[in-house]
Amino acid sequence: MTHWQDDASRDLMSLGGRLALLTRGEGSAVWDDEGARYLDFLGGIAVNCLGHAHPVFVDAVSRQAATLSHVSNYFASPGQLELAARLKRLAGTGEQGRVFLANSGAEANETAIKLARLHGNRSGRTTILVVEGAFHGRTMGTLSLTPKAAYRDPFQPALPDVRTVARSTDALEAAFDGTVAAMIVEPIQGEAGVVPMPDGFLATARELTRAHDALLILDEVQTGSGRTGEWFAFQGAGVEPDAVTLAKSIGGGFPLGAMITFGAASDLFYPGTHNSTFGGNPLASAVANAVLGHIEDADLLANVRARGTELRAGVESLPLVSGTRGAGLLIGITLSAPVAGEVRAAAQERGLIVNAPTEDVIRIAPAYTIGDAEVAEFLTLFGAALSAVAASTPTTTDPEEQK
Ligand SMILES: Cc1ncc(COP(=O)(O)O)c(C=O)c1O
Repeated sequence: MTHWQDDASRDLMSLGGRLALLTRGEGSAVWDDEGARYLDFLGGIAVNCLGHAHPVFVDAVSRQAATLSHVSNYFASPGQLELAARLKRLAGTGEQGRVFLANSGAEANETAIKLARLHGNRSGRTTILVVEGAFHGRTMGTLSLTPKAAYRDPFQPALPDVRTVARSTDALEAAFDGTVAAMIVEPIQGEAGVVPMPDGFLATARELTRAHDALLILDEVQTGSGRTGEWFAFQGAGVEPDAVTLAKSIGGGFPLGAMITFGAASDLFYPGTHNSTFGGNPLASAVANAVLGHIEDADLLANVRARGTELRAGVESLPLVSGTRGAGLLIGITLSAPVAGEVRAAAQERGLIVNAPTEDVIRIAPAYTIGDAEVAEFLTLFGAALSAVAASTPTTTDPEEQK
């Protein structure tokens, strides 16, 4: 019998990753093919908001699969209508809001790019502004909005007229002119290392987009669906966008994405301009309704806020930790040395899954359901991983620096 890594190298596209062969999950734990247990504090990259195999998720998938899974976009289904109404209510769009259901974050953002084109093409505006460090996806359109050269350069030519703006209100003010059709922003940049936009940035972006007849599109693929302790990060910032995109936690592990529009932006698409075979199918819609409904019923957003505060306080005193940032249960733990890769590996060796989006940041995005036991186990395992790396990191051998 070949080892699973040999099978993966032979049969799967060579794209990196694949740190273990995971075979089972329950709550905040997953197990690999050899029976080793891991505390999952990455949650499938901010996806498994109810943890693994949650009864609400299992029940929704099972019931809907046994009732009606797929009907194509020629037809509506009750779950799809319920989900659209729910998302409008949670986002506070009022009557005028509209929802497009898709299958992933990139597809939701592709939809937002088309929205920007429909808006800009009415007056010949083609520029889309993006923020330095942004990540909006890997499809050609969303990749064009992702400034990181290593991701984008092999696939040039990208979409034209995309301009990158620094994360400052001064840079924003300088960037707007009569060519701008839209600006797309992540309220907190997850892939860049959990980097929140500076104070006032979103409000300034809102003012400038309004003044220049441009759309403000918020990419809440990572921050939305309750991850920050609010349903949407924009609600915490007090800024209403023209459109917001979602994916990740919205389906709790079932592939699903969405774009929600506000106000006049809701009238831009018209029949024939967009669609998706699988988007908003009955199965995905039923799961999202069940997951979002459970977050509301169990008041899990209060838990997201409380556990986020607890975790941030708990890691502050650990070796190598220089600070924390983010909101709710999307937390970036900054390190005093560029050893995040080593810390991630040391954590996995000890039975803890976290990730290292940059060389000096560890990201955690655990389930909204975590309690005292998960927080305590995380702090023990993470502390042990940090101590092991600190002991072997020359730059931090000074006990003063190690804290
Ligand atoms: C902010 C943001 N936008 C878009 C995406 C792309 O989502 P997907 O991988 O579902 O296509 C991601 C994925 O990490 C993301 O974090």
